[in-house]
Amino acid sequence: MNLLSKVKARSLPTCNSAQSQPFWVLVLFTWGSLLALKFAIAFFKWVFINFLIPAKNLKKYKFWALVTEPTNGIGKGFTFQLARKGNNLILVGRNPDKLKDVSDLIQAKYGKTQIKTVVVDFAGDLFECVRRVNEAIEGLDVGVVINNVGMSYPYARYFHEVDEELLKNLIKINVEATPMIKVAEGIEDQFYQVSLSSN
Ligand SMILES: NC(=O)c1ccc[n+]([C@@H]2O[C@H](COP(=O)([O-])OP(=O)(O)OC[C@H]3O[C@@H](n4cnc5c(N)ncnc54)[C@H](OP(=O)(O)O)[C@@H]3O)[C@@H](O)[C@H]2O)c1
Repeated sequence: MNLLSKVKARSLPTCNSAQSQPFWVLVLFTWGSLLALKFAIAFFKWVFINFLIPAKNLKKYKFWALVTEPTNGIGKGFTFQLARKGNNLILVGRNPDKLKDVSDLIQAKYGKTQIKTVVVDFAGDLFECVRRVNEAIEGLDVGVVINNVGMSYPYARYFHEVDEELLKNLIKINVEATPMIKVAEGIEDQFYQVSLSSN
């Protein structure tokens, strides 16, 4: 027997052993392989999105960025990131002192950033909010809108436990205020928008 025949003779049982497995083992094996493939694809997608995909160059959407509710949480984070990238800012919030604090912090860190603040209460008169925003952005090229306006309960509770005032504000801010910002005149054409309201 030459070497080739010996190799063939040895490899034959391996092929046969796969064929000789019970059907349910083959089904399980296929199912397991597909599952592993699904997880591998999800993992590589996660790595791609979180580490490899290039960041969007927001400056190409013009220099001014408008952020609603920039004094806390996610909105504040966006505000600092935009200033770091070189955008000028229009900060729209309800508390003048907090708006000043955020502006001062940004100016101290990124001296070149131009900042305009607009004091509005999104639980108040929304047409007045839009009027003030329009006034502030007149003549500016607003290319990025971080429409962060939105609120939730301070803690989890049943619907019937929510008091009337909170419910009214929830609906007003989450349902009415979010689209209202889009009707501001200087930002109604082309702009890059991130909307964060969870409602
Ligand atoms: N955090 C999350 O896990 C999560 C998840 C999904 C979606 N979101 C959405 O992301 C957005 C921001 O969430 P966040 O957690 O960063 O919020 P946050 O930390 O609670 O900050 C709330 C911001 O909203 C402002 N604000 C509240 N009521 C206002 C009103 N009537 N008029 C004007 N400003 C008002 C606050 O201003 P003051 O500083 O003056 O109080 C503050 O700047 C919301 O739209 C939320 O629905 C959040």
